[in-house]
Amino acid sequence: MLARRWSRRDVLGSLGGAAAGGIFIPWLAPAAAASAGTAARRFAPVRPQKTDAIVLPPGYTWDRIAAWGDSLFADTPSLTGRDLQQDTLLKPGAAARQARQFGANCDAVAFFPRVAGRSDSGVLCVNNEYVQSELAFRRRRRLTMEPAEDRRQWVEQYPEAVAVMIAAHGVSILEVDRQRGHWRQRAGTPLARRITGSTPCEITGPARGSPLLRTSADPHGTRVLGTIANCAGGKTPWGTYLTAEENVDDYFGRAKSWAAAGGDAAVVEAYGRFPLREHSYYGWEHAESRFDVRVEPREALRFGWIVEIDPRDPQSPPRKRTALGRFSHEGANAAVARDGRVAVYMGDDDLFEYVYKFVTRRAFEPRDPRANRDLLDHGTLYVARFDADGTGQWLPLVVDEKGPLNRRNGFASQADVVIKARAAADLLGATPMDRAEDIEPSPLTGRVYIACTKNGERETASRRAQYAGREIDLGVNAANPRAANAAGHVIELTERDGDAAAESFSWDILVLGGDPTAPEASPFACPDNLGFDPAGRLWIVTDNDKGDAPNNGCLVCPVDGPGRGVPQQIMSGPVGAEVCGCEFTPDGGTLFLAIQHPGEGGTIDEPRSHWPDGGDLPPRATLIAVRRDDGDPL
Ligand code: FEO
Ligand code: CA
Ligand code: CA
Ligand code: CA
Repeated sequence: MLARRWSRRDVLGSLGGAAAGGIFIPWLAPAAAASAGTAARRFAPVRPQKTDAIVLPPGYTWDRIAAWGDSLFADTPSLTGRDLQQDTLLKPGAAARQARQFGANCDAVAFFPRVAGRSDSGVLCVNNEYVQSELAFRRRRRLTMEPAEDRRQWVEQYPEAVAVMIAAHGVSILEVDRQRGHWRQRAGTPLARRITGSTPCEITGPARGSPLLRTSADPHGTRVLGTIANCAGGKTPWGTYLTAEENVDDYFGRAKSWAAAGGDAAVVEAYGRFPLREHSYYGWEHAESRFDVRVEPREALRFGWIVEIDPRDPQSPPRKRTALGRFSHEGANAAVARDGRVAVYMGDDDLFEYVYKFVTRRAFEPRDPRANRDLLDHGTLYVARFDADGTGQWLPLVVDEKGPLNRRNGFASQADVVIKARAAADLLGATPMDRAEDIEPSPLTGRVYIACTKNGERETASRRAQYAGREIDLGVNAANPRAANAAGHVIELTERDGDAAAESFSWDILVLGGDPTAPEASPFACPDNLGFDPAGRLWIVTDNDKGDAPNNGCLVCPVDGPGRGVPQQIMSGPVGAEVCGCEFTPDGGTLFLAIQHPGEGGTIDEPRSHWPDGGDLPPRATLIAVRRDDGDPL
C-alpha cells in the first residue's frame, strides 16, 4: 500500500508549488509577508538529546517570556519555584492570584502584531491546557497512578486546590516586545488578560439555547463558565484567536453511576461518542458540583468547542462557536477561499477520530472587522473521507431528513448535529485517523498539512469492531498505513483547484515518523503542532512520551524542492517536556514555542527536571522565543 502511495507522490511533486488562489491577509499569512526572496536558511541540525535544557544550533538563542505563575498584572506577585516547594498554592488567596498569573502548561501560541506586519511588539494569546497536580502541590502522586479514592479524599481536604487548578486553566493574553534583541513580557499593559476555567463565555451558533446545553445555572443554554483543556489553536483573518477545547472528558465525574441510575436518554445518547468517566482525572467533581454529572448532567456538553477570543477587546466575552462542532478539538487554522469565504481546518485528537473543516457562509470583510464578528456562526461543517486512490471528499455535516442526518437517527436540528458531531461523521463514512493534531494550511501554497501523532491500536488487517461507541474498521487504511503506529505521520492535502472551500481534494503522505533503522534514537516521532516560516518550510514540534526516547523538540521540514519531506531537528526541549506553539513573527525572525510539562513523571518532592529555574527548583512550563543571534530570519 505504501509503495503505491510513494510512487504517486512523485506525480504530486511535479504538480506541487501552484500558489493557492485567494486574498492576501497579513493576519493569516505572516510568512507570506516576508516571503519574497526569503531563502531557506541552513543550520547545523541538533543531535537527539536527553539533557535538561533547550538545545539550539550555533548562532541561535532563546528568551524566556513567561513561566507558569509569572504575574501579568502590576498588583499581583509572581509564583516562584520556591513557592511551589512551600505549597504556596494551598495558602489563602492562591486561586485569586493564579487568575492574574500566567497559566499552567502552555500550549498553542498566537502572535498579533501591535501594528500590522511589525515583528517587534504585539499581543500573544497562549493556551494553558491543564494542571499536573503532582507538580503543583506537594505530596501528590501522578494522577494516572493515584487511586480515585485517594484523590477524592485529597480534594475534599483541600477544595481550594480545585479553585487554583481552574484558575490555572484557559488562556493567557500578554503584551510582549523585543528590546535590544531580547523578548520580554510587558506586565500590566491594557490588553493583558486571563481567561480561566470560570470566565463567563457566550455560547453562539446553532447549539445556542439547545435543550442539551441547559443547566440549572444557565436555564437558557447561552452562557457557560470557563474554557478548559485548551490545546492547540489558531487565528482568524480578522485578527481573533481560536482556542480548542480538547480532553474535556477528563474533567467530569460520576457519569457511569448517573447513566446507570436512569440518566436522561437524550443526554446519555449525546455522550455516546464522547464518553465521560466515573472518576475524573482531576477530582473537581468533589469540590465543584457542576463537574459532577449526577448534579449537572449537561454541563460537559458545554465544553469541547472552538472558542473565539478578541485579543484587542479585553471586555469581549470568549465565544464558543458551536457551528464548528463538538469533539476533542486539537486546533483551528484558517485559510481564505477564492471567493473570500473562510475555511477552518480542525483535528479531533482521539484514537480513530476524524479530520474536519468548517467553511463560512459569507465572505469576510478585510476592511471592516466588525462585520466578521459572528462569521463563524454560519456555514458548513465537513468531515474528511480519504480514499485509497489519493483523492478524498469533504462530507457536509448538515441536518437533512432525506439523508442520514435525520430525526430517526437522532438529528432533529443542526444543534443536534454539531453537539453529536462524531456520531454524525460516523453516519457519513468519515475516515478514522491516527489522532489528528494540528492541521496547518501553508500560507504560500494553500496545501494543508495534517499531523497524525500516533495510534498504537491501529491493526494490520481489516477488522470491524466496536470502538468508542460505534463499529469501525480498526485496520490500516491508505491515509493511516502503519499498524501499531508509534511514531505518527504527516499528511499533505491539496484542495481541488487550490480552493480552501472545495468539497474534494487529493492527498499524500509527506513523511512517516520515526527512523526505521533506529527508532529509539529518532528525534522525529509523534508530530503535534505545526507552523510555517516565510520560506514556506513546515515546522513540526513533537509530543513523544515514550520513556527511553530522546527529548521532544522542533524540526524543520521542506515541503517543496530538495529535502522535501525530510525533517531536520533545530531545537531540543528539556526532560519530560512536550514542545508546543510553533508561531512566527511576520518577519520570520522569532519563533514562539511553549515548553509544556517539563519534568513529566516527577513530582515537586522528586523532580525529574529543574528547567527553567535551575538549582533544586521544580520545573515550570514556560513560553520562550527562539531567534538568531544576528537577527536574521530563522
Ligand atoms: Fe493536547 Fe492533542 O494534544
Ligand atoms: Ca497537541
Ligand atoms: Ca499551528
Ligand atoms: Ca499530543
